[in-house]
Amino acid sequence: MADQSAGLDWRKGTPVSTRFDDPYFSLENGLAETRHVFLTGNGLPDRFGDGFHIAELGFGTGLNLLAALDLWRQSGQRGRLFFTTFEAYPLTPEQMIRAQQAFPELAPLAQELAPLWGQHAFALPDLTFQMIEGDARQTLPEWPGAVDAWFLDGFSPAKNPELWNADLMAQVARHMAPGATAASYTAAGHVRRALAAAGLEVMRVSGYGRKRHMTIATKPIASA
Ligand SMILES: C[S@@+](CC[C@H](N)C(=O)[O-])C[C@H]1O[C@@H](n2cnc3c(N)ncnc32)[C@H](O)[C@@H]1O
Repeated sequence: MADQSAGLDWRKGTPVSTRFDDPYFSLENGLAETRHVFLTGNGLPDRFGDGFHIAELGFGTGLNLLAALDLWRQSGQRGRLFFTTFEAYPLTPEQMIRAQQAFPELAPLAQELAPLWGQHAFALPDLTFQMIEGDARQTLPEWPGAVDAWFLDGFSPAKNPELWNADLMAQVARHMAPGATAASYTAAGHVRRALAAAGLEVMRVSGYGRKRHMTIATKPIASA
């Protein structure tokens, strides 16, 4: 059977994938970038509401989940956030815990969730979590959900092209409720074109830090 382990190097506390030769999050400020790209990019917290469903391509260290749940709690939401993530090469709980130590601001949340890592599904009073393990090109087409927001967080399109291909972007669009959004740190032309070809309204907006642009895509309400 093929090796499904993640394979990590550590650079100053940041995990770098040896399989993809790319860091899991920005070497400069991963949390600020996550907040800018995935939270603000998806119009959060303003669009949050009971039952809001986020899906993610690439669970990695769990940083995006922690940042989303932190915002959910900080913004005083009631009810339950749903978070479904697609991951082919899960990190071990030990690797996740070590990576999350880079973000002291999230330490209380990281500590609360630490005993749950390694489980493919769990629930807290305000969170329903599921990790669907396997290659998203195979698992997403079979998944029945329709979400309110996507975090498109593969490694860079040059190093992880399979997580950005046109068929998969069409599947992302198919698994969006009318009015749902998708956000990504990349502004690569082929990714934007694939999202547009899948029927989404695609915008290029200011990126985080040194990245000039990022991408936001919306599913038109009329196309429901
Ligand atoms: C940039 S990292 C994600 C970072 C993550 N969102 C976080 O908060 O730490 C990209 C992730 O995509 C996963 N991945 C790469 N190719 C994949 C595929 N074909 N299907 C599912 N996951 C994949 C990698 O294993 C890695 O965990």
